[in-house]
Amino acid sequence: MHLLHRNRRLRQNEAIRSLVRENHLTPHDFLVPLFICEGKGIRQEISSMPGYFRYSLDLITKEVQFLWSLGLKSVLVFVKVADHLKDNKGTEAYNSDGLMQRAVKTIKDAVPEMLVMTDVALDPYSSYGHDGIVHHNQILNDPTVEVLAKMSLSHAKAGADFVAPSDMMDGRIKAIRNTLEQEGFINTGIMSYSAKYASAFYGPFRDALDSAPGFGDKKTYQMDFAGGAKEAILESIRDQNEGADILMVKPGMSYLDILSEVSKSVSIPVAVYQVSGEYAMLQAAHQKGWLAIDKVMYESLIAFKRAGAQMIASYFAIDFAKKYNL
Ligand code: PBG
Repeated sequence: MHLLHRNRRLRQNEAIRSLVRENHLTPHDFLVPLFICEGKGIRQEISSMPGYFRYSLDLITKEVQFLWSLGLKSVLVFVKVADHLKDNKGTEAYNSDGLMQRAVKTIKDAVPEMLVMTDVALDPYSSYGHDGIVHHNQILNDPTVEVLAKMSLSHAKAGADFVAPSDMMDGRIKAIRNTLEQEGFINTGIMSYSAKYASAFYGPFRDALDSAPGFGDKKTYQMDFAGGAKEAILESIRDQNEGADILMVKPGMSYLDILSEVSKSVSIPVAVYQVSGEYAMLQAAHQKGWLAIDKVMYESLIAFKRAGAQMIASYFAIDFAKKYNL
């Protein structure tokens, strides 16, 4: 045969493959989700997330120092709120001495250079397990947005670098941005979960934070996953125009088409969230001996880069950094 083109020439060995490779992953690409609870000396594995832990605040200093040593420079903080502090108005969410606010200070004291992003949504604080205030089984938009703005301000006051609203209420980015500007927090960023779907892949996360909705589902605020990319692009552009600094598509692996379309349509960075259920299913297959976890971890993560993600929130961040830190 006299072939003009031999595609396999550029695949002959690792040296040439690594030269022509278009996508790369380093620990610097990750946001590390951190689950924090009250108490002392608690490092509790989440049963539906093998290898992932919830920590009490006293263990967080060591944990973030460890993350920093691995080259992981950003954390996304979630708290498990005690039942007696939950109500229908998210009152505890903006308590200046609440667990989240103390967690931010602890992390910043431990590693001042660590980028601290805080989750902004009412579900861990809600007696109904919903992301908004409930009235006659409806999730109220505008009163919820007011609380989210207060909550964001209290995170900023505690020292958060970014607030990350994951609630999907309308108009919250503008309200949060206005509040931060008015109060002088001009450098506090907003990472908006702009295209977030009503997904069953969040199940293990809700176990981790004890935040499952008490009635109904989240379909009146999170997006319909059978919808097309147009809706995701519209949501994302609106959030960009309301003052978001970073956008996000969530979940990840089943939504690469959305990620690709959104990242082509906006001009600010786009993050992706490989969510708890995506982590759980790969770990479960690994435990059964059906998949090689290190390999599927890498392959699933690099897919996000290929699809246009600038950064990745993933429960694999630590394992990735341990295995591939050069
Ligand atoms: C809360 C929130 C959720 C996740 C992040 N923030 C759960 C939900 O919306 O029900 C899911 C993360 C994951 O599954 O890993 N607003």
